[in-house]
Amino acid sequence: MSDLTIITTSDGSHSLFNPLLNETYHSVHGAIQESQHVFIQQGLKYWLAHNPSKDIRILEIGFGTGLNAFLTLLDLQNSGYRIYYESWEAFPLPIDLAVQLNYPIQLGAIDVFAQLHQSEWNAFVSITPEFILYKRLGDILKDPLPGADSFDLIYYDAFAPSKQPQLWTFDVLKKVVDAMSPAGVWVTYCAKGQLKRDLKSLGLTVETLTGPPGKKEMVRALR
Ligand SMILES: C[S@@+](CC[C@H](N)C(=O)[O-])C[C@H]1O[C@@H](n2cnc3c(N)ncnc32)[C@H](O)[C@@H]1O
Repeated sequence: MSDLTIITTSDGSHSLFNPLLNETYHSVHGAIQESQHVFIQQGLKYWLAHNPSKDIRILEIGFGTGLNAFLTLLDLQNSGYRIYYESWEAFPLPIDLAVQLNYPIQLGAIDVFAQLHQSEWNAFVSITPEFILYKRLGDILKDPLPGADSFDLIYYDAFAPSKQPQLWTFDVLKKVVDAMSPAGVWVTYCAKGQLKRDLKSLGLTVETLTGPPGKKEMVRALR
């Protein structure tokens, strides 16, 4: 992962380019815009609007730059919500690269962003009194997830199926769906037909929504 380079996307926010996969971590049309639309607006806000609970358990596949965790924390700061945020990552970024990302310049809270990256792996860390982060250093293809009713909201942010098809197989999707709560919500930037068919076969109600700028569609699926 040391060949990763920082790129600037169309909204001015950084992303990373992975030359081995010839793939970026976010949409080149805007990293913050994409995360904000797919994960925060259509995922987090949707769940909050449909659930009275003040506790939310989020599972992210692919911690990467930490952008989704950062946006989630900022969005719910001082809201009265308590957040458990578990994020899986098989190939963590070097910290010196992560802290060069311009998200805190664009969004504020420099210390919090650094903390997200500097916090220990495989440990429960209170980033703020309301936001518990568990960065799981692990491979979602091999390691077991916690059992049923473990997560309310899934941020499925793996590399695209064309680059890492193994992360989008029925079996991997099933493993994640099995860990969802009965009112669970799943969001991803991907809107491939096979993904939608698989999520339907797993019993979810699948919605195709307008994507972020530069992308036609995205998927939200409900248990
Ligand atoms: C599209 S990037 C997005 C990451 C992150 N959500 C972000 O906003 O930067 C996909 C991430 O999945 C991670 N990944 C790839 N294979 C994985 C695996 N088998 N298990 C867990 N994470 C994996 C990559 O290292 C990368 O950080």
